Amino acid sequence: MAIDYSQLIPNNVDLAGDRRLQRALENWQPRFLDWWKGMGPDGTLNFDVYLRTAISADANGWANFGYVKMPDYRWGIFLAGRDPNRVIAYGDNKGKPAWQEVPGELRSTLRRLIVTQGDTEPASVEQQRLLGKTAPSLYDLRNLFQVNCEEGRHLWAMVYLLHAYFGRDGREEAEMLLERHSGDPDKPRILGAFNEQTPDWLSFFMFTYFTDRDGKYQLASLAESGFDPLARSCRFMLIEEAHHMFVGESGVQRIVQRTCDLMKEHKTDDARALGAIDLPTIQKYLNFHCSVSLDLFGQEASTNAANYYTMGVKGRYLETRIEDDHVLTDATFDIDTTEGGRIVRKTVPALQALNERLRQDYLEDCARGLLRWNKAIEQAGIDFELKLPHRAFHRRIGAFSELHVSPDGKVMSEADWKVNESKWLPTGEDRAYVTSLMGPAVVEPGKFAHWIAPPARGINGQPADFEYVRFN
Ligand SMILES: [Fe+2]
Ligand SMILES: [Fe+2]
Repeated sequence: MAIDYSQLIPNNVDLAGDRRLQRALENWQPRFLDWWKGMGPDGTLNFDVYLRTAISADANGWANFGYVKMPDYRWGIFLAGRDPNRVIAYGDNKGKPAWQEVPGELRSTLRRLIVTQGDTEPASVEQQRLLGKTAPSLYDLRNLFQVNCEEGRHLWAMVYLLHAYFGRDGREEAEMLLERHSGDPDKPRILGAFNEQTPDWLSFFMFTYFTDRDGKYQLASLAESGFDPLARSCRFMLIEEAHHMFVGESGVQRIVQRTCDLMKEHKTDDARALGAIDLPTIQKYLNFHCSVSLDLFGQEASTNAANYYTMGVKGRYLETRIEDDHVLTDATFDIDTTEGGRIVRKTVPALQALNERLRQDYLEDCARGLLRWNKAIEQAGIDFELKLPHRAFHRRIGAFSELHVSPDGKVMSEADWKVNESKWLPTGEDRAYVTSLMGPAVVEPGKFAHWIAPPARGINGQPADFEYVRFN
C-alpha cells in the first residue's frame, strides 16, 4: 500500500479510517516535536539536509531523496505489506493464523517488548545529539541526521502499536518514551548501553556498527512475532536499520584506512604523532562497544526467552529458514556459561538458550565487518589485527558478569584484570586524545577531517563534494 502523504501523519495503515486513534496520535505528534527540538540534534532546526524519505513500504519506496528541514521530516507509520495467509511459525501456536489483535493473555508481555524496543530509538538520538558539532564532513553529518530521523521514525512505529492496540496503558507508555532520557539519573533509558555517552565519531561509528546491529537482531526476532502488526512494523524498520549499520561499518573502515595510509606514507607506527587514531585505540573502542552490546541480549539461559518463543511473541533470527520442528521442546543447545568461577560449555534445553543463540548469530554477523577492516590493514602491510573480544569479556549482564575475563577469554582475578584494563578498554587519556581530534565540524563540501578517509562513493550517486547539508 502506498503511503498517504496528504495526512498530518503520513501512514499506510488507513489512519483516517480510525478517527479516535488518529486524534490520539495527532496529540502525541507535537509532544514528539518538542522532544526532537529539545533532545534531538542540537542547533540544527534550520538546516536543509539531503535526506531519504520512504514514499512506499515496498522495496522501491526508498529512492526518494531531497532537502528537508529535520523538524519537517515526514515521520510516519509504515508497516510492511500484510500477508493474509501468514501463520505463526513456531511455539505452541504454530500453524495458527497470525494475530491481528493482541491476545488478552499476552497483553502485558507484548507491551513490555514493544516499550523496551521503543525506548532504545529516542535514546540513541539523545546519545548522539551533540555529534553534529564535530562532524568530519558534510557527508558524515548528513548520515548522522539520516540515522537520527529514522530512529525517530522507529519511535513512531512503536508508539503507533502502543496507541492502536494497548488502550490507555499504551498511551501512558507512549508518554513515558518521551520522558525517560539517556543517562538521566532519575529517569534513565531502560537498557544500559543506551545510557552510555556517544561523545565522539569513533564511538558513533562503533555504536552504529555494534549497537544498531543488536537492533537488527532484536527486530528480526520480533519480525517473527505472532502479533502481525508488530511483525510488519519490524520488517519495515529492518530496511532502515541496514543503513545505520552501513554508516558504522564504512565509518570504521574509513578511519582504519586513513590511519594505515598515514602510517605507510610516513613509515612509522606512531599514528598519534600523525594526527590519526591509532589501531590499538580503535581496538579498545571496539572492545567496549561490542561488550556493552552483547549485554543487550540478556541472560544466557532465560525462561523469559523460552516463554516468548513458546507463546509465539518472539521468534529466532530467520525462524522460517531454520530446519527443525520450531517447537523445540525436545531440542538442546550448547552454550558457554560459568561454573565454579570457570567458563564451561553446557548443553541446555534449546528453549532456554534462545538469547544465547541470537547472540551467537549476532557475533557471526559482527565478525564480517572485521574481515574487511583487517583487509585494509593487511593491504597496507601493517602487522595488526582487529579482533572481537571474547563474549565473556567486560560483561555486566548474564553469567559472565561475575567473572573477570580478558578479551581473549582468559579468566583472572579482579586485581589482575584491573592492572590490564587500560590495555583493553579506552582510558580517560585515550578518550581525551580522540576528543582532541574532533571538530569543529568540517563544513566545506568535499573536505574531510584529517583522521578519516573520504567514502568510496557518495549518497544516492552524488559526488563526495556534494552539499549534503545547507546551514542557512
Ligand atoms: Fe532503530
Ligand atoms: Fe538504528
